Amino acid sequence: MKFFIDTANLDQIKEAQALGILDGVTTNPSLMAKEGITGAENILQHYRDICEAVDGDVSAEVIATDYEGMIKQGEELAALNPQIVVKLPMIAAGVKACKYFSDKGIKTNVTLVFSAGQALLAAKAGATYVSPFLGRLDDISTDGLNLISEIRTIYDNYAFETQILAASVRHTMHVIDCAKLGSDVMTGPLSSITGLLRHPLTDSGLAQFLADYAKGN
Ligand code: G3P
Repeated sequence: MKFFIDTANLDQIKEAQALGILDGVTTNPSLMAKEGITGAENILQHYRDICEAVDGDVSAEVIATDYEGMIKQGEELAALNPQIVVKLPMIAAGVKACKYFSDKGIKTNVTLVFSAGQALLAAKAGATYVSPFLGRLDDISTDGLNLISEIRTIYDNYAFETQILAASVRHTMHVIDCAKLGSDVMTGPLSSITGLLRHPLTDSGLAQFLADYAKGN
C-alpha cells in the first residue's frame, strides 16, 4: 500500500519524507490556498519545490473545467517534472482529458469521486489513480469505506490497472480499514500517518527496557 500525504505544507511533506515511508503527495486548490500559495506562477513553483522534496508522485490539480483548458493546464503541469500526476475532476471534460493524457503516457488522478459508477468511468478512461473521497462521504452519513470496497471488486473483476487512491482520509482507522479492503494508496494528513506509530504498550515497554538496561550499567 502506498502512503501519500495530502497537503501543500512543505514542512509536513519533508517530515513525512524523512520517515522513509512516503510514496507521494496529493494537493488540491484548497490545500494550496491554506498555505497561502496563490497566483499561477507561485503555484507552479510550489509544485517544483514539492517534487524536489519527495521521490514519488505529486498530484497537481487543473483549475479549468473545460476540455481545452484542462489539456493546456495539464500539459503545463506535466512539463514541470516527471513526478507530476495531472489531477482532473470527475466531470465529462475531466474524463475526456483523462483519456487524452493516458493515451499520451501522462499520469492522471481523477478526483472528486463519490460513486462506483464514477470510478468505473475513470478506469475506462485509463486513469493512473482514482480518488474516492471517503471522509466526505462519512461526513454525510454515507459509508465511505463501502465505496472503496465496491471499487476494489469492480476493478478486480476486470483487472483494471487504475490504482484506488483512498482520499479524504482523516485518521488512522481510515488508513487501516483502507489497507484491509485492498486500497492501493491512501492519502491523508500527516497525523493519519504518524498516528500509526503510537501505542501505549510500546512506550511503557521501551521505558521498561531502558530502565532495566540502566540498572545493569
Ligand atoms: O485528497 C482529497 C482531500 O484533500 C479531501 O480531503 O479532508 O478536505 O475531505 P478533505
